[in-house]
Amino acid sequence: MESKTNDLLNLIKSRRSVRNFVYKKIDNQTIKEIVDCGRWAPSARNSQPWKLCIVSHPTVKRMIAENSKYGAIIESAYLNFVVFLDLERGYDRVKDILAIGAFIQNMLLAVHAKGLGAVWIGEILKNKEKVSEIFKLSPEKYELMGVLTVGLINESLEKKEERERRVLDEFTDWF
Ligand SMILES: Cc1cc2nc3c(=O)[nH]c(=O)nc-3n(C[C@H](O)[C@H](O)[C@H](O)COP(=O)(O)O)c2cc1C
Repeated sequence: MESKTNDLLNLIKSRRSVRNFVYKKIDNQTIKEIVDCGRWAPSARNSQPWKLCIVSHPTVKRMIAENSKYGAIIESAYLNFVVFLDLERGYDRVKDILAIGAFIQNMLLAVHAKGLGAVWIGEILKNKEKVSEIFKLSPEKYELMGVLTVGLINESLEKKEERERRVLDEFTDWF
């Protein structure tokens, strides 16, 4: 039990954003297992306000990539998870967006657990309506929340430098 806990804590702490990929197919079973972890995220009133477009088609990836300055990363990864907030399922904007964050983080951790890499692209939100259009999703019903690029890690290009984090005391108060 102890070692399982440590495994999970180490997984959380060793996850990092990956921006260099080797173009190689990820099988559908693996993709489904990753999305299944998103499915188990908490959401206010259990509203589960997420909608996910799973993209591996190069033409569709190109169309997404055209909407971001990180287009090269988006195209180089085998897979894109395009995450929307289902506005009809949601009921409280702040809580709904928090739930989407939990959904995304669960999937990022699952990707890491599978030995794959991912980065969360938020910059593309500046073109959220255009991205909705690609999937024929009405912006009144679905709001883009982010794109996750997922792929096999190009270890030779990935820098292994220490990631920076604020120390605990800087942002905690104990009562
Ligand atoms: C909401 C959000 C938006 C982000 N948007 C981008 C982005 O547009 N491009 C990018 O390269 N990384 C993006 N990131 C990744 C962050 O840069 C990264 O998580 C942070 O620098 C910490 O590094 P780490 O994930 O390796 O721990 C985003 C992360 C979050 C949570």
